[in-house]
Amino acid sequence: MNPNKRPDDMKRITTRELANAFIDEQIKAVREQVGSKKVLLALSGGVDSSVVAALLIKAIGKQLVCVHVNHGLMRKGESEQVIDVFEKGLGANLVYIDATDRYLSKLEGVSSPEEKRKIIGAEFIRIFEEEARGLEGIEFLAQGTIYPDIIESDGVKAHHNVGGLPEDLQFELVEPVKLLYKDEVREVGRALGLPSSMVDRQPFPGPGLGVRCLGAITRDRLEALREADAILREEFENSGLSKTVWQYFIAVPDVKSVGVKDGKRYEGWPAIIRAVNTTDAMTATIEEIPYALLHRITDRITKEVEGINRVCYDLTPKPVGTIEWE
Ligand code: XMP
Repeated sequence: MNPNKRPDDMKRITTRELANAFIDEQIKAVREQVGSKKVLLALSGGVDSSVVAALLIKAIGKQLVCVHVNHGLMRKGESEQVIDVFEKGLGANLVYIDATDRYLSKLEGVSSPEEKRKIIGAEFIRIFEEEARGLEGIEFLAQGTIYPDIIESDGVKAHHNVGGLPEDLQFELVEPVKLLYKDEVREVGRALGLPSSMVDRQPFPGPGLGVRCLGAITRDRLEALREADAILREEFENSGLSKTVWQYFIAVPDVKSVGVKDGKRYEGWPAIIRAVNTTDAMTATIEEIPYALLHRITDRITKEVEGINRVCYDLTPKPVGTIEWE
């Protein structure tokens, strides 16, 4: 039997009962696989790694070592939520690494999207490697691989799984949700008691806000992007759109225009809203956001966010536009 093939008779996990049965089964399997050894997990705070973390904490408790690398390109409040939910809430063995300065200095002056992605990816491997070498007795690496990652091996996550560790630092993999589809991973996460803000979150690219702070990243523009994005998310939640729109975010280009604020000339960047619907991220259509809400978001972002003086709505479907700007 191919362990990477979902059995034809495997039931789709759509209820709490099925999720609980899956959890019990996996707890048993993980305990059998790892015994009393230690397992390392890169916990980004995304749905898949969060669900794997919660599942493994239940199965093996402190034998799991979670490493959360804050690359400084997280959305507002995300690293704090990882610490809150996993360390404070679930008592996880969590290593928190604030690598903001490291990433931002490596990225300084780099404007090519390809180059930025490469730097972000390589830096992650380096930090993770340093951490892994410093820890005693780790023999397993847990990953939030899910079934679509296996089927489309060049899929969305190809970029940010911890592939690429050096030859002398190889671990046996623990991948408890690798036969599940996303909706099933969410169901399991809910059954494990993870908050909806974590389980139902929209996809977020591995390189984070780095691909939305267009061109060479600067701290002030990154901060403006993070604040504008937080306002967009808040308004989408308040209006209920967060439940129906697949992905929505802000991009801030490295361009300034002239404006007026408090009666004075005010040069600022535009915040570009992207809100798309799709099933597989290969093609995407644009959400018809009500004008009243667009006005409200514009009003809040231009008033509340330092450095932003215009808000635009990107109406380009995919194709021609990709979902991200970089
Ligand atoms: P594009 O921009 O190619 O994005 O239309 C399709 C989907 O993939 C996400 N995306 C990424 N996810 N690492 C990721 O984990 C990445 O480097 C990356 N680039 C794009 C994007 O957010 C969208 O959901």
